[in-house]
Amino acid sequence: MKSLKIVGTGRSLPEKVLTNSDLEKMVETSDQWITERTGIKERRIADEDTATSDLVADALVKACRQGGVEPDELDAIVVATSTPDTVYPATACWVQKKLGISNMPAFDVSAGCSGFLFALEIVANLIAAGTATKAVAAGGEVMSKVVNWQDRATCVLFGDGAGAALCVPGDGRSGILSSTWGCDGNLAPLLYQPAGGTRMPTSQKTLDRMLHTVHMEGNQVFKHAVRTMSDSARKVVREAGVDIGEIRLLIPHQANTRIMEATLARVKMPPEKMYSIVHKYGNMSAATIPVAIDEAREEGRIKDGDVVVLTAFGTGFTWASAALRW
Ligand code: ACO
Repeated sequence: MKSLKIVGTGRSLPEKVLTNSDLEKMVETSDQWITERTGIKERRIADEDTATSDLVADALVKACRQGGVEPDELDAIVVATSTPDTVYPATACWVQKKLGISNMPAFDVSAGCSGFLFALEIVANLIAAGTATKAVAAGGEVMSKVVNWQDRATCVLFGDGAGAALCVPGDGRSGILSSTWGCDGNLAPLLYQPAGGTRMPTSQKTLDRMLHTVHMEGNQVFKHAVRTMSDSARKVVREAGVDIGEIRLLIPHQANTRIMEATLARVKMPPEKMYSIVHKYGNMSAATIPVAIDEAREEGRIKDGDVVVLTAFGTGFTWASAALRW
């Protein structure tokens, strides 16, 4: 077991709510289609002046406050995002600037929707190695600024937000019982943002063709998501040596309800054990799991000693799962 305790969590969600009926006025879609195919009813949208680091900084401060740690006492800040403020430096650096802190390593992890679990794995290893005793793993996205608002197949799916977890060494009882992470880069073209990098620098042509927005083969994503999340979740449950009945909560990446329910069925857990926030926030990519953890803790759905399973998949394609004893 990697000894680790999450002693503080925080979330930051933009105030603006975009409902399915708002979307009906923007593209040819319907509340019924979106609800039936995705389970999403509304999502949050950042205003023009808000970037990913603003949401992450807010979530990080809340997590630190709950854990009784000042942000400038942190030994490391790891931010998972696919929607960074800038190509460089990392969003984590902009978080430091916003908070006026320094003297700790701060860097980003690019693993799509699996990003928060990648960040948590890195933080757990920093703590296990003795490199850090107080570190934040965060996930934040402003998806609304990289979505093509004329493409009904993608624009209805995403939302903005951030979540953060303050991690410290465990007390011997709590920690990561087992974890797994992986990636198959051969599937990269199924979900990506084609332009804006060195493969296809931004030009008038890329802007005209909307190549700086999300491109996705929805059906392929669906299939791989269910397989990788359920296979990796089953693996960590097996390796943790716990019975399915012992698991208090499964928190899957919140892409859409059908993916989550299909994953749950393959893990053979009853529906009441799955925690879902996708109906109110949509797919916030790397932010969905830390926001869900924060809300679940607030509602008393996660208590000390509980076993919780987290599972995610994302662009790459990446995947990751972890079984934690809280
Ligand atoms: N409103 C109305 N109709 C729509 C919409 C919309 N918003 N979007 C697509 N349609 C239409 C299509 O044009 C198509 O019409 P046609 O049959 O006349 O050609 C029809 O609906 C069916 O389209 P499909 O793409 O086959 O619909 P599907 O049942 O596969 O659902 C969805 C699409 C919801 C995107 C599904 O494929 C899915 O959930 N995929 C996973 C995507 C996902 O979660 N991505 C997040 C990835 S990011 C991450 O989390 C890693």
